[in-house]
Amino acid sequence: MLEQIVKPLLAWYDGHARILPWREDCRPYRVWVSEIMLQQTRVEAVKPFFERFVKALPDVKALAQCPEDELLKLWEGLGYYNRVRNMQKAARVVMEEYGGEFPADYDRLLALPGIGCYTAGAIGSIAFGIRMPAVDGNVLRVLSRLKASYEDICRQSVKTAMEQEVQKIIPAGRAGDFNQALIELGAIVCVPNGKARCQECPLAFCCQAKAKGLTEELPKKKAKKERRIEERTVLILREGERVAIRKRPPKGLLAGLYELPNLDGVLGEEEVLAQVRGWGLSPLRILPLAGAKHIFSHVEWRMTGYAVSLEETEDMEHDGLFFIEPKETEERYPIPAAFAAYAGYMDIVLGQERYEER
Ligand code: ADE
Repeated sequence: MLEQIVKPLLAWYDGHARILPWREDCRPYRVWVSEIMLQQTRVEAVKPFFERFVKALPDVKALAQCPEDELLKLWEGLGYYNRVRNMQKAARVVMEEYGGEFPADYDRLLALPGIGCYTAGAIGSIAFGIRMPAVDGNVLRVLSRLKASYEDICRQSVKTAMEQEVQKIIPAGRAGDFNQALIELGAIVCVPNGKARCQECPLAFCCQAKAKGLTEELPKKKAKKERRIEERTVLILREGERVAIRKRPPKGLLAGLYELPNLDGVLGEEEVLAQVRGWGLSPLRILPLAGAKHIFSHVEWRMTGYAVSLEETEDMEHDGLFFIEPKETEERYPIPAAFAAYAGYMDIVLGQERYEER
């Protein structure tokens, strides 16, 4: 039944595919970088991150050798920082085992750190023409609708079955285009949230969901587990022009990144001042700041903020806190976008907003 989608889908893709930087030049390294970024962020938002990343680190060797802070800085604002750490691990394996060239082999790609079925299929098909599927959330939505399937697309067994169905129809010679066409259709036509553009869809002629009026009901996904809520009190500790930051521990959420000092819970002014004194600092004034929140995949931070001005000290470091010029932070220290609401008080910009018009 699915066989009939191949020709109209490719014809549609030939006429409608967006021109994207990683499509102009499909070397495996570029495909890999783009696919990892696209797993977490929209195409439009990825573009400037992608351009900056491949300019700074143009190949596997450069990535393998990049110092960690620099690497995390290049990823700042994309989130899921373990992904870029795994990319560096994989780059080192590619250097050591394959002389710096990605293997043109699905199983070898799959064996690299951070590369699962989706990414191995995407790199394999787009860069090497290997006939393996690349089924992401977009493709699962398209297929569920085409088949009017009520199966839960969060289940691995459902995903695997869909991958097997797709694999059977991947056309020789156009594996990469075919996979990207399915993704593209899901991204710009067969979209979620009541906005599907069925009038423009090249597969409307055989879509079971459309025939049965189920487009908006599908796909089915089991409800996600609720996020844990954490209260944090975030501090802008200012000493003259300089502001305090510190490095996060090497394991856990936002591991190894830098952050504004922050404390567990919703603290009042007196509690904050006591803590600041406990760090060996001398507060002069304290000012409450607006609250903010940041959503991670499993946790939500609800933040209370204070700006505290400090008496000048000679020491650069107190209990892991160190004082830096805000511009230095912007250029050198990776600070997660979770702190973006407070970065404004330091006159720096973090995360995706770095790329938006100022
Ligand atoms: N989303 C995931 N992979 C993509 C690709 N290659 N092109 C556009 N959007 C994508």
